[in-house]
Order: sequence, then structure tokens, then C-alpha cells
Amino acid sequence: MDADTLLRELVEFLRIPSVSTLPAHDADCRRAAEWVAAELRRLGCRDVAFLASDVHPVVWGVGPDVPGAPTLLIYGHYDVQPPDPLDEWITPPFEPTVRDGKLFARGSADDKGQVFCLLRAIAAAGPPPVNFRFLIEGEEEYGSRVLFDLLRREPERTRADAVLIADMAYVAPRWPAVYTALRGLCYAEISVRTAESDLHSGEFGGAAPNAHEELVRLLGRLKGSDGKINIPGLYAAVKRPSRAELAAWKQLPFREADFLKRRVRAKALTGLKGHSVLERLWALPTFEIHGIMGGFTSDGAKTVIPAAATAKVSLRLVPNQKLQTVERQLAAAVKRLAPKYVSASVRFMHGADPAQVRITHPAFRLLDQAFREVVGRGTVPARAGGSIPVVPALGRSGAPVILTGIGLPDDRLHAPNEKLDLSQLWDGIQVFRQFYGLLGEAKT
Ligand code: BES
Ligand code: MN
Ligand code: MN
Repeated sequence: MDADTLLRELVEFLRIPSVSTLPAHDADCRRAAEWVAAELRRLGCRDVAFLASDVHPVVWGVGPDVPGAPTLLIYGHYDVQPPDPLDEWITPPFEPTVRDGKLFARGSADDKGQVFCLLRAIAAAGPPPVNFRFLIEGEEEYGSRVLFDLLRREPERTRADAVLIADMAYVAPRWPAVYTALRGLCYAEISVRTAESDLHSGEFGGAAPNAHEELVRLLGRLKGSDGKINIPGLYAAVKRPSRAELAAWKQLPFREADFLKRRVRAKALTGLKGHSVLERLWALPTFEIHGIMGGFTSDGAKTVIPAAATAKVSLRLVPNQKLQTVERQLAAAVKRLAPKYVSASVRFMHGADPAQVRITHPAFRLLDQAFREVVGRGTVPARAGGSIPVVPALGRSGAPVILTGIGLPDDRLHAPNEKLDLSQLWDGIQVFRQFYGLLGEAKT
């Protein structure tokens, strides 16, 4: 199939605003699921089905049977993050546009473009001798609850010789990667209430508690200016990377100064000074404030003392932390740090355990070989700072979970002007085509 046709078809997929976290887009999520289902039928899949949800279904499919051949389960997600702030997009997020060899659209790299790559690689040179299974879900971007529940009820869905996920990036241009760990996540809302209702700031200011003030003080106590998270017990389970791993990270094409200047584009990096930036990104827990709600934020000025305020926050977790333990620790810390006259509460929204992957299975050598043949360099082991909640569950049956991807570090996932370099897509289709072929020939 020629590049123009491929591009046109990917653009059709990217046009669908499948934002899973906004109920207004439920019908769009459903349309994206239908797009995936049609693709799977086109590949000759049987048993194509929507599982577990009407609005964000998991799309399941079984490729043509190839007796004696290995089984490969492909996981990906068709949902995307909200596109705002809209006015920062050079072209609108759901009107995919090519500029300078890059395809700009929400979902181009995370993860629709990569799902497209994995699927089109199957068709690229006639179907390879592999028994394909597909689980393409629609709520990865807010915790994958539907797929979690499905896999708990029907663990046999993950039975395979290997699981393949392309939802990540090269570590640098021309440096493809395979990932040995993902961070976990604990997403929560912290709310405080200081009075029955808002109060006039002239009548009461100076003597009445202010919910915003109490909330920001509480948040400020939860993480110090040195970057240390002040939650008792949080660091106890953290497993330090081995010396060999730390040494290998030093050999990666990663320069802290470049990272600050080109990627973060701020005036300084923050965090625990005693640890390298890669260690802070990959091997240490974080605490981030995503937004603070409450009080007066409309146009104009209003003199009021807010009685309630809420912050959306999350922690990233690293091997060997457990989501359940961290939830307990956060709730206890909030209770302990809030003054007696403030009622503070924590509502947990979604989360994920961290994942660790051993890359010793022979399938990893085949992926390395495929990249070597197409891109000229094999895969380097790396870790990811982000999370894919179902990864531990996908590996529970014992199959190796191969985490890789065709993105680049500057793709701006979740941010305005997300893009996918088209050369990465064309290479990626060849890489995975090659990988499927090698896997099909291998004796597993
Ligand atoms: N593809 C990302 C995960 C990712 C990002 C892996 C960067 C490696 C590098 C995924 O779609 C994602 O964004 N996950 C969310 C999960 C969360 C909402 C439960 C994340 O990490 O915030
Ligand atoms: Mn993703
Ligand atoms: Mn994402």
C-alpha cells in the first residue's frame, strides 16, 4: 500500500476525538472502537468483539489460525488525552496536519499512530505465520478499569507466547528502545473544608480560616522545596537501580543540559539533587499537583474567603512500591499534616502498580534484530517515567511483555502540538513486519 493511502487512513482514525476522560466524547470513543474493529476484520480476524463496556469497549480480535505458529498478543489504546489548551495548537488537535514530515494531531504518537503501525505491519507483506490476538482498549488514559476487570474475570485472554506493546518512544533519534520498567500511578483529589460557607473577606478576614490557604500549606508540606516527598514510609520500598543499570544509563544519548534546554524549556531542573535526572525520571517516586479548584477564579475581582478547595494530585510509583500501600500512606499523611480545625479528605480516582519486565526471553532478541536490520541500531534497554496500568496484568500468565515504540522524545504526549514523525511510522511498519516474520520462523 502506498504512503499516501496509509496516511489518509491514519488521518481518518486521528480525526475521531476519542477523549476517554470526558463524557461528552463517549460517542467518539465508541466510533474509534468501531474503526479499530473494522481494521481487525480487514486483517481477517474472527471473533471481533466489543468487551466489557458500551462506551469505552475493549476491542478483541483473533487473527487467522496458523497451526503450530507462536501466539502474539498485541495491546494498545485508541483513547487520547484531552487536547486543551486549544489555543496553543498551531493546527487543531483533531484536524491532522503534516508539516515538515511530521503528523500533528492528538493521538498521533500516543497511541493511535502506534496502534496503526502495529496493525499495518501485519498487512505489509502478506500475513506472517503468527497467531495474532488483539486487545485494544479505550480507557488507558484514565486508569484502564474496564480492562482490569475483564482480565480478572477472563485471564485466558492474555494467554500468548509474547505480548507486544508499542506505546513508547526511542530514547533519542536513531536509538530504538526496549523498556524494563514503567512507573505506577496514584491519582487523587485532596479536599479541604474550613467553614460551612464562603465568608466576606472584610468582615471575617484576619480571624477566619481560608480553605485555599490551608490547602496550599498542606500541599507545600507534602513535598519540600528540596524535592523530597514528606509522606512517612513512601521511600521504604523503593528499589534502587543496580550499579550496572546506572552505569548503562550513563552511556545513553541523554544530556541533562539538552533535556533542560530543548525538552523542558524552563530555567532550571528541580528534584532530588543527589540523583541523576534519569534516576529522578525513571527510578524515584514523584508527587505532582495537576490543578487546584475552588474559590473565585472568574473575571473581575471578588472579596471572599473560600470555605472549600480541592487539588488534583498524583504520585508516580517505582519498583517495588505498591499502589495500595501508597494510598494508605498518602491518606495518613494528609490527615497528619492538616491542622485540627481543617477537615481534609482524600478521594482516590485511579492508579496503577509499577511494572518491571525481564528482557531475557528470546523474543527480545528478535525485536533487537528487526530494529537493527531496518534502523541500523538494535534496542537499548531503558525505563519509562510514564505508566500503562494493565502491563502487570498482561504479563501475569508468564508471557514476556515487550514494551517498545516508534515515538521520539520530542513528540509532546498529552501536550499541545503532539506529533509523530512520518519517517518513524514508515520505519516502524518495516520493523514490526520484520519482527513478526522472525517470530513466525522462530521455534518457541
Ligand atoms: N503512553 C503513555 C505512557 C508512557 C508515556 C510511557 C511516556 C512511556 C513514556 C500512556 O498513554 C499514558 O499516558 N499513561 C498514563 C496512564 C495514567 C493516566 C493511568 C500516564 O502515564 O499518565
Ligand atoms: Mn499511551
Ligand atoms: Mn497517554
